[in-house]
Amino acid sequence: MKRFENQIAVIVGGARGIGRAIAERIISEGGIVCVLDVLQTELDELIEQKAVQQAFAVDITNESLLAETIQNIIELHGRLDILINSAGIVGPTATKIENYSSIDFQKIVNINLNGAFNVTKAVIPQMVQQNYGRILHVASIGGKEGNPGMVGYTASKAGLMGLVKGVGKEYAETGITVNGLAPAVIATPMNKDTNPEMLKYMTSKIPMGRLGTVEEVASLVCWIVSKEATFNTGFIFDISGGRATF
Ligand SMILES: NC(=O)c1ccc[n+]([C@@H]2O[C@H](COP(=O)([O-])OP(=O)(O)OC[C@H]3O[C@@H](n4cnc5c(N)ncnc54)[C@H](O)[C@@H]3O)[C@@H](O)[C@H]2O)c1
Repeated sequence: MKRFENQIAVIVGGARGIGRAIAERIISEGGIVCVLDVLQTELDELIEQKAVQQAFAVDITNESLLAETIQNIIELHGRLDILINSAGIVGPTATKIENYSSIDFQKIVNINLNGAFNVTKAVIPQMVQQNYGRILHVASIGGKEGNPGMVGYTASKAGLMGLVKGVGKEYAETGITVNGLAPAVIATPMNKDTNPEMLKYMTSKIPMGRLGTVEEVASLVCWIVSKEATFNTGFIFDISGGRATF
């Protein structure tokens, strides 16, 4: 089955981890994938390995460069069907708010939330013009429930979920859907620096008793951003091994 034949997808934060797995899955189902990320070495490898069609070094917080790059992609391909925003950082962990610096807080909000605003704003006009689009932001269960010791991450992901809900409703009467995903812990490079006690705590909260895999995430995401998913917008999908109860 080639669900994404003739479709153009932009994946921000697609150089590794969850974004990379989604890129691989979309390509395996016939899509054309352009990855935007800050990891130049990983981007070069993607191109060398012919793993994706295009790769650009763009920081999601750089609104003008981001908009310019998206515009160039649209001009080259003539359309843009899918935006997946998997860019994100964890920031400090095991750090109560009294020890959490405002610089760290501003940095994480800038990437995880302001970046999502930038990229959504950049793709919407083209999607409105073609009356079709699928936007998916990777949020977190932490944004739903609150993870102690990670106020920046929790607050930025909660804000991201608000963005998804609001913008989803703004375009609900068009062919554009805007959704989010709230994973529990998924095995990716992002967790390598997470405090081991914090990781243990987060895993212990998953009823299935294990970490999720990037392939499991890619499978769900690819349905959400497919043409089949026509009656879902402004929603935060669960992928938490039973952790989420709402
Ligand atoms: N892995 C998990 O347990 C988990 C759980 C819940 C949510 N998430 C979310 O899923 C998303 C992907 O996480 P992952 O686990 O694949 O992590 P990852 O670190 O492997 O991937 C994140 C990607 O985002 C890119 N990125 C970071 N800052 C950027 C910026 N300013 N501009 C552009 N790209 C930037 C990184 O370079 C990296 O390629 C993140 O938003 C994360 O918060 C992850």
